[in-house]
Amino acid sequence: MTERRILVTAALPYANGHIHLGHLVEYIQTDIWVRFQKLRGNRCIYICADDTHGTAIMIRARQEGTSEEALIAAMREAHIRDFAGFDIEFDNYGSTHSPENRALCEEFWRAVTAADLVVEKDVEQLYDPVAETFLADRFVKGTCPSCKTPDQYGDHCDKCLSTYSPTDLIDPRSTLSGATPELRSAPHKFIRLEKLHDFLDGWTQSGEHLQPEVANYLKGHFLGTPGDEHNPRKELRDWDVTRPPKYFGFEIPDFPGNYWYVWFDAPIGYIASTRQWCERHGEDFDTWWRSPASEIHHFIGKDITYFHTLFWPGMLKTAGYNLPEKVHIHGFLTVAGEKMSKSKGTFVLASTYSKHLDPAYLRYYYASKLGPRLDDLDLNLEEFVTKVNSDLVGKVVNLASRSAKFLEGQRLAERYPDDGGLFEAGAAAGTRLAELYEACDYNSAMREVMALADRANRYVDEQKPWDLRKDSERRAELIDVCTVTLNLFRQLGVYLAPVLPRLARQTAELLGRPIEHWSDSQRPLLGTSVAKFEHMLTRIDPKQVDAIIEDSKQPETAAPTDATTKASRGDDGPEALAKEPLTAEHCTFDEFVKADMRVARVVEAHNVPEADKLLKLVLSLGGDERRTVFAGIKSVYKPEDLVGRLVVCCANLAPRKMRFGVSEGMVLAAGAGGQDIYLLNPDEGAKPGMRVH
Ligand code: 2FM
Ligand code: ZN
Repeated sequence: MTERRILVTAALPYANGHIHLGHLVEYIQTDIWVRFQKLRGNRCIYICADDTHGTAIMIRARQEGTSEEALIAAMREAHIRDFAGFDIEFDNYGSTHSPENRALCEEFWRAVTAADLVVEKDVEQLYDPVAETFLADRFVKGTCPSCKTPDQYGDHCDKCLSTYSPTDLIDPRSTLSGATPELRSAPHKFIRLEKLHDFLDGWTQSGEHLQPEVANYLKGHFLGTPGDEHNPRKELRDWDVTRPPKYFGFEIPDFPGNYWYVWFDAPIGYIASTRQWCERHGEDFDTWWRSPASEIHHFIGKDITYFHTLFWPGMLKTAGYNLPEKVHIHGFLTVAGEKMSKSKGTFVLASTYSKHLDPAYLRYYYASKLGPRLDDLDLNLEEFVTKVNSDLVGKVVNLASRSAKFLEGQRLAERYPDDGGLFEAGAAAGTRLAELYEACDYNSAMREVMALADRANRYVDEQKPWDLRKDSERRAELIDVCTVTLNLFRQLGVYLAPVLPRLARQTAELLGRPIEHWSDSQRPLLGTSVAKFEHMLTRIDPKQVDAIIEDSKQPETAAPTDATTKASRGDDGPEALAKEPLTAEHCTFDEFVKADMRVARVVEAHNVPEADKLLKLVLSLGGDERRTVFAGIKSVYKPEDLVGRLVVCCANLAPRKMRFGVSEGMVLAAGAGGQDIYLLNPDEGAKPGMRVH
């Protein structure tokens, strides 16, 4: 197989907050993928940087009485330390506030200008005359224009959930200075994305670069389909890419006094950071960013999807750079099923975790939960303890601890003994495991590795090396059994090396040979001497987890500049891109994901004789979970045709009392009613209980 040249990025963390367990999902996911690629013998580099610009950093620097430069320098140190603590190994960690990035921003700007994509328009916005800056929605508070609740943010009301513009607020004031904001107008430059519509449609819908649900989301929300009356072609909104003063960023040469918006220069930071790496290593920059010989892979969270799937490909295409081969998008982290919370102590900083527990545990736990889709990942603390203790300590490390001591200071056998085909079966699993890693299906990979570990442990249980050692005449047998066990352990060490690099190094020290290539899993190690067994991973005591939570407890703050969570972005967050304005009729992303849509199987269906339109369905949502639902589909469906088929059901709809009983959900169907009803039908293979996104 020819060696691939792969450039991998994770989203650049903002320089205005510390790394927490939510961030780590992505950096660990990406680090595993990079380590896997390197282990396969591919040329792969992991590029990242701090994302340093924007209002939030400017305000924070002011509040702390320091300069933005000092603030970002200190945060960079902290980020690098936190990442290193979790074995996240970047090939280059840059900064968007670098000379390389400035030069590249100028180059991209020339390219979009030359392509006639830039247009200037006046924008009216609230301005804080004391802080001397325009105010993003989050920096304005006032009374809700709809329900009159005081102290609501500039874009939405927490009480009545209505969305509005900050200029609609009653009695608005700036959260930065308390001043009453003024409406002021300033020129901004926009990129006319609509001119790239056809290109973006082709690129996003090719089936090659995006997860299918992401491609569908973009089609449905932003691009549309010409001639489709349900989803007609939509026009992409012009993207506002400049900010008037005061702003912390790069000043635009042909637009003096104005700055590029942080989201213009942030992704260019991927390239700037690569340029630094190339310079340090004497590598040819164009080979990485302007050559069909290289693949670019971006790993990001779902909240920044359209920056990376619409704006960024548009910019790359225009400036003549490689387009991403893949954008890998993951979901958010919840802890115990909920958003991380400072008051509950579940908002855990990387540095707090590191004080109490080995990072390997979290790397393994995340790996065991991460799949190729966008599902959120839940950190369940009891499960975390159990998984680590039973899988890593009880199954994997246990193999070494039960056998290495009997061979300490001696050599593995010179010929691989008969193990009933265990090593060979493990070697054969390597192909499938590699496919799973490649597809980011770590969860399945971990399951398969643990199945191999179970088999290896059964072997040890049957061979009982502790008995063999008591009988000096069975010395050769003991060596054979330990040679097999340690080789099975090492094979697992290779498969787990992307997730657990330290364990791979400890394995190498124990058995006298480094793990350098995936193919190390294919041949047993023979004749090397076995070192003294040192503890590799110890069991987690649940008290250690309690201590992390206790250490993380702090009062919940609502200050908008406390931008330590992904959800709190100052004005640096996503803007709506679709042409239509965001009005109250739109459902927000959060509202949308609140609906718990599930695959269900119809297990019973009955006529409701007293009702013209209704059938009573009993749905199975997997396991014992059942829902009784009354569905208005009698005009089209016969009960007997429905039993056994899959449907989509909204599983958390508030129960509704009807004349004939309580309806505990809703099945989804298209059409206007009457004869025009079409039940949504998941493809066969979907399992009852699966979440529908
Ligand atoms: O969402 C964020 O945290 C941004 N700082 C990510 C930037 S990624 C890239 F585009 F630079
Ligand atoms: Zn309100």
